[in-house]
Amino acid sequence: MQHIIIITGAGKGIGRAIALDFATASQTHHNFEPLLILVSRTLSDLDTVAAECRAFGATTDIFEADIADMAQIDRLVCTTLERYGTIDCLVNNAGVGRFKPFTELTEDDYEYTMATNLKGTFFLTQKVFPVMEQKRSGHIFFITSIAAETAFKSSSLYSMSKFGQKGFLEAIRLYAKSCNVRITNVMPGAVHTPMWGEVPEEMKAVMMRPEDISGPLVNAYLLPQRTSVEELVIRPVCGDINE
Ligand SMILES: NC(=O)c1ccc[n+]([C@@H]2O[C@H](COP(=O)([O-])OP(=O)(O)OC[C@H]3O[C@@H](n4cnc5c(N)ncnc54)[C@H](OP(=O)(O)O)[C@@H]3O)[C@@H](O)[C@H]2O)c1
Repeated sequence: MQHIIIITGAGKGIGRAIALDFATASQTHHNFEPLLILVSRTLSDLDTVAAECRAFGATTDIFEADIADMAQIDRLVCTTLERYGTIDCLVNNAGVGRFKPFTELTEDDYEYTMATNLKGTFFLTQKVFPVMEQKRSGHIFFITSIAAETAFKSSSLYSMSKFGQKGFLEAIRLYAKSCNVRITNVMPGAVHTPMWGEVPEEMKAVMMRPEDISGPLVNAYLLPQRTSVEELVIRPVCGDINE
């Protein structure tokens, strides 16, 4: 059976790993045929990830889109529905972070963070949810963070946006329960991805890898529709890295 799956931020890091794990699951799960709609602002990344996914037998489509832009969200959802008729899964993974002491964060840092993490996530979900509500099935993942419930000194804006995402998804769950739509809050600790830039070797050694997050996410999707994994909290075994 074909599954239409939108993954935002699929060009790098955790999003790329989620796309690859959905693609490989098509080889191990009978009757699971993912059609992966890969979204980010960098076309060259999407081309690369799409080719990697196709090598595992998945079908792919790519969308160069900024989820902070309402017109681009509209185009993404409308084109997906025109081409494929439905949406089975939305992975709200695209996210940004600017990590500085609280007193050094600027208005530009604020606008940039909120535009993707809150506005983009909110309005994309708002556009997709009615499709799932109407057919009474679907699954929406939110890649929030442990920073959605734990404070770190350098993460005041980032945490604000992630606490906000958590508040939003908890509210959506109240709608989703009555129409069989599954909502999963994925809360990773430190994962070694391009988001971190250069990190010291000793830190890299203890950080998780993107596939440590994507594996449990894809497993949660493949559970029977009657079962909802509501939260996945996944940390490095040594605990949180940034204080
Ligand atoms: N890495 C961690 O330690 C960690 C821990 C907890 C939670 N998370 C969360 O996990 C998610 C993925 O993080 P990551 O570490 O994989 O980050 P990453 O390596 O920086 O990758 C982020 C992806 O999102 C895309 N993106 C960012 N803003 C976008 C926008 N406005 N529209 C469309 N695409 C956008 C980026 O591509 P373009 O820039 O080309 O658009 C990129 O493909 C984020 O929500 C992050 O907050 C990460």
